[in-house]
This record gives sequence, C-alpha cells and structure tokens, in this order.
Amino acid sequence: MSKGIKHLVSISDLTTPEFTSLVNRAAHHKKIFKSGQPVSSEISDALKGKLVAMLFSKRSTRTRISTEGAAVYFGGHPMFLGKDDIQLGVNESFYDTTRIVSSMTSCIFARVNSHSEIQQLCEHSSVPIINSLCDTYHPLQAICDILTIKEAFGETKGLKLAWVGDANNVINDLAIAALRSGIHVSVAVPRGIEMNPTIVDVAKTVSQETGASFEVTNDPKSACTDANIIVTDTFVSMGEEAQKQIKLQQFSGFQVNSELTKLAAPNWKFMHCLPRHQEEVTDEVFYSNNSIVFEEGENRLYAAMAAIEAFVIKKELA
Ligand code: CP
Ligand code: NVA
Repeated sequence: MSKGIKHLVSISDLTTPEFTSLVNRAAHHKKIFKSGQPVSSEISDALKGKLVAMLFSKRSTRTRISTEGAAVYFGGHPMFLGKDDIQLGVNESFYDTTRIVSSMTSCIFARVNSHSEIQQLCEHSSVPIINSLCDTYHPLQAICDILTIKEAFGETKGLKLAWVGDANNVINDLAIAALRSGIHVSVAVPRGIEMNPTIVDVAKTVSQETGASFEVTNDPKSACTDANIIVTDTFVSMGEEAQKQIKLQQFSGFQVNSELTKLAAPNWKFMHCLPRHQEEVTDEVFYSNNSIVFEEGENRLYAAMAAIEAFVIKKELA
C-alpha cells in the first residue's frame, strides 16, 4: 500500500473492531436514511464538490446503484467509468489510468478482474481504493451481509452459517466477516475445489480470537445441519463463463433446496448476494418467507455509505 492511504481491499485486512465498526456505521446510516428526515450538513456536504470514481470492468446492478446512492448521500458526484467508456485496456495502461483517475477524484470504487489489479490500484493511486469485487474478494458484500444477519437475528454470536457453493470472492470475505462476528462457519465446496489457503489461515487465526469455529467440507448436508443461515452464490462467477459446463457438472448436488433447508435450525434464513440462478437455489427456497435476499440487496447501500465514511471521509474506524 502506498503513501499511507488506507484502502478497503479485503475484510482480512481489518481488525475485528474495525470490521464491527463498519457494520455498526452501516446500521447507523440506514436509520438516518430510512427516517426520511433531512440529513445533517456534516453528512450531505462531506463530499461536496468531489467526484467518486467507479472504475468498473465488470457488470453490476447492486454495487453500482449502492455506490452511486452512497456518493450522493454524502454530497459527492458519482462518475461511472465502465470498460467501454474510457481508454483503459484499449489505448491506455492500468498505471496511467490509475494516476489520472486518482488525480481528479476523492476515491476509486474498483470492480476489476484479478486481485493483482486491485493491488496495482492501491500501489499507484493517490486516493483511497474501495475494492468493489475482484476475483478474490468482495468486502462490501460482507459488510452488508453481517448487517443483514444482525437485523434478522438481533445477535450474531453463536449462530451457524453454512455456505454451499464455490470457494469464491464472496465467501472469502464473508467467512472472515462472520468469524469476526462470532458466527460459526461451515463451508461446503465440491471435491476438487479448494478454499484459498490465505483465507483458511486468516480464518483459523480469527477463529481462535473470537471462538467461532471454521470448517471446510464437501458435504452440503453436514454444512446445513443446524445452520441458522444458509448462503450460496452463482456457481459460475463473472470471468469464468468459458468453464460454465464443467462447473455446473462439478456443482451437481449443491443446489440449495428444501431437502437441505429441512436440516437447518428452525429459524433458518437464506441469503444470496445476487444475481441468482436456478441451479444454485430453487424458487421454493429463494422466494420463501425464510429468504432475506431482498433485505440483503438493499443493505448494500448502507455498506457503501459506511465504506465511504471510513475510508474516504476518514472517520476513525472503531
Ligand atoms: N452482489 C453484487 O455485487 O451484485 P452486483 O454484481 O449486481 O453489483
Ligand atoms: N461470485 C460472483 C459475485 C457476483 C456479485 C462473481 O464474481 O461473479
């Protein structure tokens, strides 16, 4: 990381109090926003006259809307820089683009392909980088997810979260976020798919710190047994389209359906970062009363507000 700037790259980089503070601030901004009352000038002028750059090389619904909404809440102007809008990758290098974009903006929300692109941005940007999804991490989703779990259950400590799906960007941050929140985590991935070893190491350390357990299994049924929260995501992440057929075969038996949810705790909830496909979860579960996917989707807005406040406006974390 360059120039002493604090970037949001991954939940693994945060301390437990820092992460908890982000979730609490997201809840705080949700309360203000939903009250319908005018916000204080401390909020509405915080980014007045400033641009919030959104360097997005992949498609997005939730991350785009929530980032634009959060920028406007703080009085800033969001500027969407999609892959077909700017010179990057066609006429201009990543380095030159980073130097130029950061020279005129307050921060860069970046949705990129590889984690190394986030690292390059952090290295060369003169303003904070907020990782808005790369192939390894999705920290904004994890802040939102813990807020959503807190709202659904009141308390996070002692809950069990089952992940049934790929060892991908979403679970990499969600596992650490959940463990930091005292939630036991059981990750079920198909045989032949391994969790990122760095995440497993961090998970073990955080597990010792908070007393929440962490396990990886190949058995969705054992992961879902007594789970309070069942979570999945697409089996084919953006950028993996060429492997679609192979991956769908690999994930046979991993659909979240009523057979699996029957094993869960009586108060179980279903979560999914969205967008969702039939193969990973049935309509019966996805649209059930136990599903909190749309509350979760909305909470992305408040997670973006908390991230801007902490990393761009630079209110102390924790
Ligand atoms: N969950 C999520 O990041 O959604 P989008 O891809 O629509 O931004
Ligand atoms: N794992 C998915 C998350 C989408 C929000 C992907 O990277 O495409």
